[in-house]
Amino acid sequence: MLNLIKQIVEVSLGERSYPIYIGESMLYGFADKFRERFNGAKAAIITNPTVWDLYGSQLTESLTAGAVDYELILVPDGENAKSLGVAERIYGDLIQKGFERKDVVIALGGGVVGDLAGFVAATYERGVPFIQIPTTLLAQVDSSVGGKVAVNHGLGKNMIGAFYQPAFVYIDVSTLNTLPDQEFAGGMAEVIKYAFIKGEPLLSLIQEKKRAILGKETGLLSEVVRICCSIKGEIVEKDERDVGVRAYLNYGHTLGHAIESTTKYDYTHGQAVAVGMVFAARLSQRLGLLGEDAVELHRRVIAAYGLPTTASGASAVELVRVMERDKKRAGGGHFFVLLDGIGNPVVRKIDEDMLVSVLSEFLREV
Ligand code: NAD
Ligand code: GLY
Repeated sequence: MLNLIKQIVEVSLGERSYPIYIGESMLYGFADKFRERFNGAKAAIITNPTVWDLYGSQLTESLTAGAVDYELILVPDGENAKSLGVAERIYGDLIQKGFERKDVVIALGGGVVGDLAGFVAATYERGVPFIQIPTTLLAQVDSSVGGKVAVNHGLGKNMIGAFYQPAFVYIDVSTLNTLPDQEFAGGMAEVIKYAFIKGEPLLSLIQEKKRAILGKETGLLSEVVRICCSIKGEIVEKDERDVGVRAYLNYGHTLGHAIESTTKYDYTHGQAVAVGMVFAARLSQRLGLLGEDAVELHRRVIAAYGLPTTASGASAVELVRVMERDKKRAGGGHFFVLLDGIGNPVVRKIDEDMLVSVLSEFLREV
C-alpha cells in the first residue's frame, strides 16, 4: 500500500520541535516513521473501541510488518475517559507490561484520547515519548498540536494537565471518512476560527471549496489541515505556555463555553463556538473594529457548514453570569478575543453593561 504523506509542517520549539505529517492512507506506513525515530522501542497504543474497530487493523498491520512490538490499551469512548481514574488504570497496564522510559505512548483517536494519552505520557516515569495519531477533524486541526494534555476533575474540565509536546503528529485525513457529520461540523468550527483569526488563504478556500470539503475530498482536506496546523504551530511557537497570543485560539470560545454550560450541552462545543464567533464579530463591530459586512461574512461561512449563528433560547444575564467564572478571565473583567479587521485578532476588556446590552440584542437577531 502506498504511503501518501503529502505535507510536513514543522513546529519549532528548540529541543521540543516536531514534525506534523499530513496525508491520506498513511496508517499503513506508520511503522517506518516510528522506527526512524524510535527503533527498538515498544509502543503502547491508547485508543477507544470505536476507533480501534475502524483503524486498529491498518495500524497493527504496519507495526507487525515493521517488527514493532506493541500493546493495546483500550479506554472507554467519551469525555469521561479523561479522568485520573482511567489514567491510573493505564499506568497499571504500562507497569505490568514492562514499559520503560524509552518506550512510546501512541494516541490513536480524537481529542479525548489525545489529551488523556498525552497526560499519561507526560507523567509515566516522569515522561515518555508520545505520538499523536488524531482521527477527528478537531484533533487534526487543533488538539493534537501544541502540547496541551490534560484530564478532567469533578470540579472542572482540563484542570489537571501539562504542556507536553509530542515527538511527532501523524495525520491521515482518510480517517475522516468515517467521522459522524456532527463531529466533522465541530471540527469545521475550529477551521473557521483559524480562517477568521488569520484570514487568507484559508478564508477563501473554505468559501470556494465548500462542496469538496463537505464531500471529504482528501487532497483538499490535507491542504485545509496543513494550513490550520501551520497557523496553530506559528502561534504555539510564539507562546507555548499560553500567557499571550495563544489566547487568540480562543476566538469564539468565551461565549461558546458559556452557551455549552447554560444550555447543559444542548449545543455541541463546535456549535457553541460557532455562535461565539458571530457574537465576537458583532462585539468587534460595535467597538468600530469590524464592518457590518464582516459580521455578515461570519454568518454566511458558519451557516454554510451547517453550524448555528445564534442561540436565541439563551438568556444574556445567565450567560454573562457563567462567563464570570470562565477560568480564562484574567485580572477581573470580561476579556474577549475580537477582530480588528479579519485576520487581526486582539484581546479587549469589555465593560459588563455593554456586554449585557450587545449580547441581549445579539440573541434577538436572527
Ligand atoms: P472525541 O475524542 O470524543 O471524538 C469524538 C467521537 O468521534 C468519539 O466518539 C470518537 O470515538 C469518535 N471518533 C474518533 N475518530 C473517529 C473516526 N475517524 N471515525 C469515526 N468516529 C471517530 O472528541 P474530539 O472532538 O475529537 O475532542 C474533544 C476533546 O478535545 C475534549 O476533551 C477537549 O477538551 C479536547 N481538546 C483539547 C485541545 C488541546 O489543545 N489539547 C484543544 C481542543 C479540544
Ligand atoms: N486549543 C487551544 C490551545 O491549544 O491553546
